Amino acid sequence: MDVADPLTALRARSADQRLYNFCAGPAALPLPVLEELQEELPVYHREGASMLEISHRSDAYDAVEESARHRIKRLLGLDDTWHVLFLQGGASMQFHQVPLNMLPPDGSADYLLTGRWSENALEEAQLLGTARAATSSADKKHTYIPDVTADVLDPDAAYVHFTSNNTIYGTQYRTEPPTDAPLVADASSDFLSRPIDVDRYGLIYAGAQKNVGPAGVVIVLVNDRFLAQRNQPLPTMLDYGTHARKRFNTPPVFAIYLVEKVMRWLEAQGGVEAVARRNEQKAARLYNRIDRTDFYTGTTRIADRSLMNATFSTPSETLDAQFCREAEDAGLLALKGHRSVGGIRASIYNACPPEAVEALVQFMDHFEAVKG
Ligand SMILES: Cc1ncc(COP(=O)(O)O)c(C=O)c1O
Repeated sequence: MDVADPLTALRARSADQRLYNFCAGPAALPLPVLEELQEELPVYHREGASMLEISHRSDAYDAVEESARHRIKRLLGLDDTWHVLFLQGGASMQFHQVPLNMLPPDGSADYLLTGRWSENALEEAQLLGTARAATSSADKKHTYIPDVTADVLDPDAAYVHFTSNNTIYGTQYRTEPPTDAPLVADASSDFLSRPIDVDRYGLIYAGAQKNVGPAGVVIVLVNDRFLAQRNQPLPTMLDYGTHARKRFNTPPVFAIYLVEKVMRWLEAQGGVEAVARRNEQKAARLYNRIDRTDFYTGTTRIADRSLMNATFSTPSETLDAQFCREAEDAGLLALKGHRSVGGIRASIYNACPPEAVEALVQFMDHFEAVKG
């Protein structure tokens, strides 16, 4: 792409060209994964049918699901005390399922509020029992991550729930909040984007559609010790124990099939450490550009900036809208900020290649040169 005018080359694109996609979710998938999928349709490995049309009890499907589970564990360094569950209902169902299973009738849980998703999670927990907001960034429109100190946390909390990355506002915890209670994380928008301290967690959940696959499956990692403390009895389908024990019902086979491919792609990239380095470099490139002139302004506190969703704005809402429109014309998709926040948001998950960030930076240069 020409630095002076990135629009020229991209405007000349063909109708079926794949463009740079900054969608917050469902988000870009790695191209090799899509190509492999295409190859395996309509017939999967001599099965006489595609993976979408065979039994979820078949050997072929069984191998795929086991491989996905095994690779997730290997990528995160999880030992045999961890269960990997492939559930449905999205991350939003987990807002309810976590407290249903893990909030004891005579206990309480702490929630760290950093945006819409954690607020939704707390509301669901409060429908079921005692849960409190230990910290909140609502005072500054969720543009930062509040400090978590021992004095704000309940030492007897059954768990501490936090949203590791805030997709909407563009903030992210740098490290796990300090607490002795088991952590429960909504990691929907930074799952497998960097190493985590697994020993600190009781449970991690993530909708697949941002960093690890298509919509349709939520991945729940739950530790055996934590699982053993769950409430009983529970509705069968909502009991984590049901799914930890066996494949109880028909899982979302297509989504899991793609997650398995994304896990293999991630391993081929060098694993979580390697992809984390690449994510840091992509984010640094973008934030450096935002900060280089006064034309663009980052939305969030610098120390808490997300490596996955970069939020920023131009000098006016009119220019923000124009930026997104012209970027789309130039082949840079889905840069409009979340409807509740406005501005511009570039989601640069694992599968977003550095070239996409480079194209965005070039477009930012061009837009500022014309409008600044
Ligand atoms: C951090 C986070 N949690 C939860 C959700 C809700 O996920 P779902 O639509 O899978 O219920 C989202 C969706 O964008 C999210 O970004």
